Amino acid sequence: MIEKLDIVVVGELNMDLILTGLPSFLEMGQSKLSKDMDFTLGSASAIFASNIARLGKKVGFLGKIGDDILGDYILQNLLGRNVDTSKIIRDKNEKTGICVSLSFSENYAMASFPGVRESFCLEDIDFDYISTARHMHLSSYYLQTGMKERCSELFKHAKELGLTTSFDSDNDPSGLWGSSILDTLQYVDVFLPNETEALHIAKCNDLQSALNILSDVVNTVVIKTGKNGAWVKNREQTIHANAFKVEVVDTTGAGDSFNSGFIYQYLNGADIDKCILWGNACAAISTTKIGGTTSFPDITELQYFLSERSEDLQKIIDIRI
Ligand SMILES: Nc1ncnc2c1ncn2[C@@H]1O[C@H](COP(=O)(O)OP(=O)(O)O)[C@@H](O)[C@H]1O
Ligand SMILES: [Mg+2]
Repeated sequence: MIEKLDIVVVGELNMDLILTGLPSFLEMGQSKLSKDMDFTLGSASAIFASNIARLGKKVGFLGKIGDDILGDYILQNLLGRNVDTSKIIRDKNEKTGICVSLSFSENYAMASFPGVRESFCLEDIDFDYISTARHMHLSSYYLQTGMKERCSELFKHAKELGLTTSFDSDNDPSGLWGSSILDTLQYVDVFLPNETEALHIAKCNDLQSALNILSDVVNTVVIKTGKNGAWVKNREQTIHANAFKVEVVDTTGAGDSFNSGFIYQYLNGADIDKCILWGNACAAISTTKIGGTTSFPDITELQYFLSERSEDLQKIIDIRI
């Protein structure tokens, strides 16, 4: 008998190599020295899984890695955060992917090798395992090229099995933003894009129109707006919450950390005020160190962060429609 999971994450897996403190951008034929580096668990899905597990939810992961050192490292990281990795497939014929990121204070430049994540597809999904969870989450829709084609079937089946669902499209590197994503969105309960992604997917130019258009398809639409916080619209109301003021070091994984805090409270049955507050708090803390999981808090640390700001909390939600 498999133990009941709170959440199953279906997603891509890779490592990140982040170089910080480079004197300037790279030039052909020249070598530069960085001041520091981090070799850390990458990929939106893994950051989300790892962080929501750290908050205390029982998390299982469905994904694919190579039978190599990077794959070992990913498993070690997820296991260290109590994520169930028993269903992660190890492919002997393909390599695990890696993302090399040059991180500067204002911006970053990345180069990625996608590797085995591109062949992960619906045929790899164990629906018996999915049926042991009460919620399913998928991030990086556009990067999961093998899964993308039949993603609507994945979500439809999860709904038929009685799960609630959440979905973060993340960026479309091809720039095409095809409308087939709407086939999946009809089976999504909580949709969590950032502002740029929301405008592309809704095919409009302003955030309020995007909220209206997307909430015709999805029950709860959450649009993350970077240092300006986030918007949420559901059937009852629309609210905006400001971001928390923190010393930002690196925003890698801020959106995924937001998703962890938001979905943690969503699974607790909290109202959307509390979900957005926890989303913003988890995201803000995540920006205070390099990488998406390094500074992520446990429940005690998060409650301390919120209690230190208890006076400001009244003002965080600034618009309610
Ligand atoms: N400079 C910042 N200060 C505080 N919080 C931030 C900052 N930048 C981002 N965040 C938090 O991270 C969340 C996600 O950031 P955003 O850039 O919109 O998404 P993504 O990382 O998916 O692109 C925001 O909604 C906010 O809560
Ligand atoms: Mg994102």
